[in-house]
Amino acid sequence: MSAASVVDWPRKMENEWSGAQIGLASSVFQVKPSQIRELADVAFTMEGVLRLQFGESDMPTPGFIKEAASRAMAEGYTFYTENSGLPGLREALAEKYLELHQVRLDPASEILVTASGVQALNLSIRCLLNPGDEALLLTPNWPNAAAIVSLFAGHPREVPFLRREGRFVPDFDALESALTPRTRLLVYSSPSNPLGWVASPGDQQRLLDFCRRNGLWLLADEVYERIYYQGEAAPSILRIAGRDDAVVVVQSFSKSYCMTGWPHFHFILDDSIWF
Ligand SMILES: Cc1ncc(COP(=O)(O)O)c(C=O)c1O
Repeated sequence: MSAASVVDWPRKMENEWSGAQIGLASSVFQVKPSQIRELADVAFTMEGVLRLQFGESDMPTPGFIKEAASRAMAEGYTFYTENSGLPGLREALAEKYLELHQVRLDPASEILVTASGVQALNLSIRCLLNPGDEALLLTPNWPNAAAIVSLFAGHPREVPFLRREGRFVPDFDALESALTPRTRLLVYSSPSNPLGWVASPGDQQRLLDFCRRNGLWLLADEVYERIYYQGEAAPSILRIAGRDDAVVVVQSFSKSYCMTGWPHFHFILDDSIWF
């Protein structure tokens, strides 16, 4: 682009409608700002600090992934794909589930590829909740799940873990008491960010039974499944859920394959709307 073709994005006249006057959706004001991001913005300005704010490894993306990505680009894999993602990728994901969890998935109908774990969470929560519905979240939890519920005009109800003999355990009495006629969804992350708690098969069974009994969707965020030291992968809820259970699992390459910086979508907006 030549310098002569660069123009400032012009401001509108004062009496014309601006983004600030029209305002944002009221649900946006229900979203709590993330202190993780606040801390990160400070850390990014500093040298020599250990960056522990995000759930990510300090290892770069492995060479075999970078090579495969550059080979794929050279071979022309730079276009829109099938709606649910490249069939070959979905087949490979199904094979991985079989290998890690001994669960057979149908790549054609049971796996949907998204641009990131966050996008998968957004899409699933959007598809599962109606405005005004409530979601139970085992907490402390990575704050984005509650933020996404609020953003879609749902109500997050955080249910803290209990501590028993130095371990975290879901508080089933508190879950029962948090139920209302508007509750539709239970969300947890296992392995958990930030706790490191991993749902045991017993916890998973009780959480699944709780959802079955109360007619709730169960959304298991399992993006940290490979950050696990007692085997190849933390057990997925899919190992015990039935095919017809109201269960959604969110997965991501970010954490397991050190690819947190890969998604690269953006949008542009009028800066006057920020509050
Ligand atoms: C629990 C949890 N789920 C999902 C994500 C998002 O992962 P992705 O980078 O794939 O969007 C994160 C990122 O920190 C996370 O901690």
